[in-house]
Amino acid sequence: MKIVTVVGARPQFIKAASVSRALAGVAKEVMVHTGQHYDEKMSDVFFAELEIPEPAYHLHVGSASHGAQTGRMMEGIEEVLLAENPDWVLVYGDTNSTLAASIAAVKLHIPIAHVEAGLRSGRMDMPEEVNRILTDRVSRLLFCPSQVAVDHLAADGIVDGVHIVGDVMTDAVHHIMAAIDGHETAVEYPDGYFAATLHRAENTTREALPKVLAVLASVPGPVVLPLHPRTKNALAEQGLVLPDNVDVIEPLGYSAMIALVQGAEAVLTDSGGLQKEAVILGTRVVTLRSETEWVETVEIGANDVVGTDADRMCQALKRGPIDMESVARIFPVGASQKIAEIVSSV
Ligand code: UD1
Repeated sequence: MKIVTVVGARPQFIKAASVSRALAGVAKEVMVHTGQHYDEKMSDVFFAELEIPEPAYHLHVGSASHGAQTGRMMEGIEEVLLAENPDWVLVYGDTNSTLAASIAAVKLHIPIAHVEAGLRSGRMDMPEEVNRILTDRVSRLLFCPSQVAVDHLAADGIVDGVHIVGDVMTDAVHHIMAAIDGHETAVEYPDGYFAATLHRAENTTREALPKVLAVLASVPGPVVLPLHPRTKNALAEQGLVLPDNVDVIEPLGYSAMIALVQGAEAVLTDSGGLQKEAVILGTRVVTLRSETEWVETVEIGANDVVGTDADRMCQALKRGPIDMESVARIFPVGASQKIAEIVSSV
């Protein structure tokens, strides 16, 4: 059994690390890195820290418009698939790397296994939503984190090959927690700090970014912000400065990010992955978007979706601790193992 895994963006390295560990011994995995994320701090640190095998192929595609970036990836992935002739192509999430691999594979009649299938925001103006819908449509195996995701697929008429396995991010967080257990974290943050991340296209526009900064300025305490390059570029282009209570730091590796989130009063973010990581770690989340794909985290009272409304953000920060029994129920461990078992047995 040979599997070609295609990754390209930061959260995919984290998820693939968990599943790769489970696949070792049951399948030969060939790792392809598209190069969608290429800064050392957005890519290499994750491979080193999470002990992901060096990619067998690195396409060095880099940043470009959606069409150009996706097209270049498709061309490179197609060559790899023709050379490797795998039994499966394994893809993660909803990035342009996910879509490029899916289109290249389906045209070569190679079956696709999609991890994090069935997520929906209901917003076709988000590039990620387009990538998810198209990838789900052409996938043979669809690994869903929850019943909500299964229901979304059913609504689109997709019922064959659908499996609820839980969320691979849970395995990733538990693995790194065990690895850093007892180790002092090198960095000290200000007392009572909040952690924030921002990178979504819809939050970095000229209209949205000043509003998001106003929300950060209203946080009742210091805010530590590891800055994504997209947001850094947008601030410079728009001539905006961050509020005084915001401490900017470089993008963090995985264990440092987990330590930052665990020690924070709460997390403010527009990232899908970080919403889950925070809740798994017992840290309250405020989502700076108008919707979330992770509705279960809202239902258990751990996540408030506030858009750019500073008053709602402040109200959300006053809520009490998260119920960890509910967290364990919505984020069971073991998704990576189940995925490895299912892919290697069909
Ligand atoms: C991508 C995914 C998003 C995911 C996110 C995780 C798509 C459409 N979006 O968003 O779903 O949540 O990754 O971080 O695939 N840049 C650099 N260095 C890098 C990477 C990016 O400077 O290593 C800058 C470039 O200016 C680039 C911009 O960031 O144009 C956006 O990068 P891109 O990969 O297009 O999307 P992300 O915002 O990272």
